[in-house]
Amino acid sequence: MPHPGVIEAYRQYLDLPSHTRVVTLLEGNTPLIPLPAVAEVLGGGFELFVKFEGLNPTGSFKDRGMTAAISEAAGRDVKTVMCASTGNTAASAAAYAARAGMRCIVLIPEGKVAAGKLAGAIAYGAEVLQIQGSFDDALSLVVDLTSRYPVALVNSLNPYRLEGQKTAAFEICDVLGSAPDWLCLPVGNAGNISAYWMGFKQYDQAKGTALPQILGVQAAGAAPLVLGHPVEHPETVATAIRIGRPARGEQALQAAEESSGRIIASTDDEILAMQKLLAGSGIWVEPASAAGLAGLRKQINEGMIHPRGMRIVAVCTGHGLKDPEIVTRGFSYQALPADAAAIEAVVLKGK
Ligand code: F0G
Repeated sequence: MPHPGVIEAYRQYLDLPSHTRVVTLLEGNTPLIPLPAVAEVLGGGFELFVKFEGLNPTGSFKDRGMTAAISEAAGRDVKTVMCASTGNTAASAAAYAARAGMRCIVLIPEGKVAAGKLAGAIAYGAEVLQIQGSFDDALSLVVDLTSRYPVALVNSLNPYRLEGQKTAAFEICDVLGSAPDWLCLPVGNAGNISAYWMGFKQYDQAKGTALPQILGVQAAGAAPLVLGHPVEHPETVATAIRIGRPARGEQALQAAEESSGRIIASTDDEILAMQKLLAGSGIWVEPASAAGLAGLRKQINEGMIHPRGMRIVAVCTGHGLKDPEIVTRGFSYQALPADAAAIEAVVLKGK
């Protein structure tokens, strides 16, 4: 049977109201790709996989949660949805709202949203408003406005978002036959780590698939869950997770603790180095998506995780195409003469 989208694929495990009317782009069923070369660089002796969520319809994992949130809203004839976003939620909400025939309004932090995400939200027809503030300011505004207007909030404070997102944990168990030893992933507003933990626990209860330890990774300049307090002015090259007051912070800390895992921070340099290492295996992800693996590398180097004999899954949450400027920044746009000699001199002779 062709993959029917995450709601139909896992309906019996999802707590969605009976009025839900499925709006799907056949999201989910993303590949779990082995990463032997990266595992070698990290010391070897273990199995490493990437759950490449950048291959969802709008290029990020958000589509799993958005099909659920929009389907629930569609079932009660909601006309308008709204979200705050560092970019991926915006593009995903815009696409699913378009498919459902709804209006979509997104608030984004001024000047900090990567080009591919902004373009996506605009292309799918959302009304995109920049605000002179951070993601956290935008989310507070959305919470206020959606409480006063007949507009559905589709950030991950919406419980149906997590219902959809937990399907990624089910897929990993279905492919591997059980949960991995460790799951590492980036943490921003902390919805995804919470959803994975819900999913792994639920599947373990239903099918005895066991539980992973969870390594959540924030960017060092935006690491409220590591510091233990909100960050007023978060800064990181990983703009997707440039968040100082995670809405589901408590739940994320609990997931880490219950799983005997932890939440740590990686620096921008570590994140970009991992982005490059992954690209060397043919997997191009946006910077935030490399954070989970950057954190794993650090934990292994510091002797905090001994991976020998283990099976580890890293979630890469968004596609590299979302943020092209990060990689083209150093590229020379100066054109060569259109003749063979000029090209030979640069890339062939003496190489
Ligand atoms: N990775 C990417 C690519 C993201 O876009 C996000 C969040 C995360 C990781 C973190 O997930 O928030 O559930 O902890 N992006 C949100 C957005 C905030 O607006 O697109 P989280």
